[in-house]
Amino acid sequence: MNNRIAVVPGSFDPPTLGHIDVIRRAAALYDELHVLVVHNPGKEAMLPIAQRLSLLEQSIAEENVDGNVIVASWSMGLLVDYATDVDAGVLVKGIRSQVDVAYETPMAIVNRHLAQIETVFLLPDPAHALVSSSLVRQVAALGGDVSPFVPGPVARFLDTGARGL
Ligand code: PNS
Repeated sequence: MNNRIAVVPGSFDPPTLGHIDVIRRAAALYDELHVLVVHNPGKEAMLPIAQRLSLLEQSIAEENVDGNVIVASWSMGLLVDYATDVDAGVLVKGIRSQVDVAYETPMAIVNRHLAQIETVFLLPDPAHALVSSSLVRQVAALGGDVSPFVPGPVARFLDTGARGL
């Protein structure tokens, strides 16, 4: 396992500026960063995985994220199976609040037991501390302007009504 290779996993439904902030900073810390769209069975999805993947790729390009960033999706089982496949030794997650700490801690402990993989938490830029995909989904569904919270490609996609909502 290589501790210079990291994975940023998430639902990214949709990607937000908070996600891009974490991805940008993680890409500066590691030699190779995998941004992984993972199906979360505990959440009802707004966008299909392929759409989230495409929006992430466009957003990472448009936001000029530097580094060796690979965008992929995973629906074949455990997150740590993907990490093991690509030889990653680290998972990176953004932590906005105590609520995130409580949500992420058990997953970090389970992932370490499953595959000896460490989880590193990054604190968000305060500008993005309150942005979440679930709030963006709600604002978009009710016809509000999400452009302050999401990268351009996501704002344009949601604005076109392409979701069929
Ligand atoms: O953005 P999210 O929804 O908070 O991301 C959660 C996610 C997808 C990273 C988490 O649900 C996950 O790791 N799912 C993969 C299944 C898995 O490996 N579960 C066991 C370890 S927690």
